[in-house]
Amino acid sequence: MSIPVLTIDGPSGAGKGTVSRLAAKKLGWHYLDSGSIYRSLALAVAKQGVDLADEAAIVSVAEKMHLEFECEIDLTVRLNGIDVTAEIPLESTGAIASTVAAIPDVRRVLLQKQRDFKQLPGLVADGRDMGTVVFKEAPFKVFLTASVGERAMRRYKQLIEKGIDANLIQITNEIEERDRRDRERATAPLAMASDALYLDSSDMTIDSVVEEVLNLVRTGLNERSQS
Ligand code: DC
Repeated sequence: MSIPVLTIDGPSGAGKGTVSRLAAKKLGWHYLDSGSIYRSLALAVAKQGVDLADEAAIVSVAEKMHLEFECEIDLTVRLNGIDVTAEIPLESTGAIASTVAAIPDVRRVLLQKQRDFKQLPGLVADGRDMGTVVFKEAPFKVFLTASVGERAMRRYKQLIEKGIDANLIQITNEIEERDRRDRERATAPLAMASDALYLDSSDMTIDSVVEEVLNLVRTGLNERSQS
């Protein structure tokens, strides 16, 4: 039997992380937070003082970086043996991640690292191009979005809860800027797969989004087992 994959793509702050983790837990499947891979590269690039205009040097950092993910309750990320979990969610990390993610050779290098997560009994993959590029063949695809105001407020609360200083207006501007970069890049831009279920979570609870996502998977798995 082929390994089932559920892809959840969408802009930052739409709730993909929370929904994907909960769905993976309920299904008993593995979880790929592809944004953390780009964020780890961003940290590696920043720590090594690489110029963001030097694409060849960034690709070389991507080729050499060693990543370890541990997903118990929360995700722990080790980059070249060092725990960088606390730096992963910072908006400054996200902004560099979005810049390095626009380099086509970076995406090529990181493709296999992401595909390696596809293992039995199944995978929930969260990102921007999971359903359109990385797991194009996935039987279950969701495009999860929310209004900019709602996404900014969620990110703001997340950061405050983690004890990180945050400014709502600045976050709103950063989200708009990151959306624009992720949507307008030439390679694997943020876009909805034609066979994805569209969900706008602005006025939905997390539980109802998870329920819709699980319905999609369970209905599909039932149909598969009957055919
Ligand atoms: O989902 P996130 O906010 O952690 O992602 C950080 C950045 O990484 C995002 O702005 C664009 C990039 N990214 C990407 O290009 N493709 C993915 N599949 C996931 C993230």
